[in-house]
Amino acid sequence: MSKPKVLLTTKIPSSVLATLEAACDVDYNDSNSFPHGELLARVSGKQGLICVITDSITPDVLEAGRDLKVVSNIAVGYNNIDVAAARERAIAVTNTPDVLTEATADMAWALILDITRRVSEGDRLVRRGGWKGWALDFMLGTDLRGKQLGIIGYGRIGRAVGTRAAAFGMRVAYFDLHLGADPIAMPLDRLLATSDVVSIHCPLTPETRHLINQASLARMKRSAYLINTARGPVVDERALAWALKNRIISGAALDVYEEEPKVHPDLLELDNVVLAPHLGSATTETRTAMADLAVRNAIAVLTGLPPITPVA
Ligand code: DGY
Repeated sequence: MSKPKVLLTTKIPSSVLATLEAACDVDYNDSNSFPHGELLARVSGKQGLICVITDSITPDVLEAGRDLKVVSNIAVGYNNIDVAAARERAIAVTNTPDVLTEATADMAWALILDITRRVSEGDRLVRRGGWKGWALDFMLGTDLRGKQLGIIGYGRIGRAVGTRAAAFGMRVAYFDLHLGADPIAMPLDRLLATSDVVSIHCPLTPETRHLINQASLARMKRSAYLINTARGPVVDERALAWALKNRIISGAALDVYEEEPKVHPDLLELDNVVLAPHLGSATTETRTAMADLAVRNAIAVLTGLPPITPVA
């Protein structure tokens, strides 16, 4: 019997690739970019597609890949995939939850500590020769102890971020569109008005696009910080640049952007924002585990088993 054909749009660790190649006939893109036209051309005749968040799995891709049985995303977020269109064609869609929870929660905390203690800002100052020496009032940041961490989106990653808060003496409150009857749950407006650090961990959906906009930023404390390691379009970047420039909030730290890899030009000019290049899950261990789970999902479906982690 011939092996199922799979298109893999990205480089993956060789041990994981070996597992995939043992079970499938793999068409493998080993460069870091994969233009949409090439995706359309190469998906034809494939039963499996293993892709990443920079691949847009739109109806034209599903049409070109009319033999597809599975689209396996190497990411927990799957806003790059038209899931409804896949469902109409009975194509399974899978993602990689759990394996990246801890790495992403760690990254959120790296950003919280960076912006509140001005680490990146200080690094830039030292590099440009601007450090004139120690002084009692030099580059003062903000203590976290005794303050409130407001979490938007209390799923796996949001909870893991919350768990770490005790180590820094912070109390946790959250807002979640799908949860509520919990003493630490709050309406969004109250969460924004009372939190000292607001960290975003909800998926990008039509309901959460620009959830953080000029009006919501204006509700935050002037002393507060906004952290985004979820998806860029949850925050209106132009409104955020306005809020940072006018000190409507104290600072922000971002790992994700509205139109990656572009960053709103006004943000690049500001010192009270940390800008990381979408590194939330970027550790060797985690990216290997993500690739491994995505490969196992594809193989499961292509060998007639249920997907391990189908999207909801
Ligand atoms: C995810 O898994 O959704 C991340 O954003 C990819 O690193």
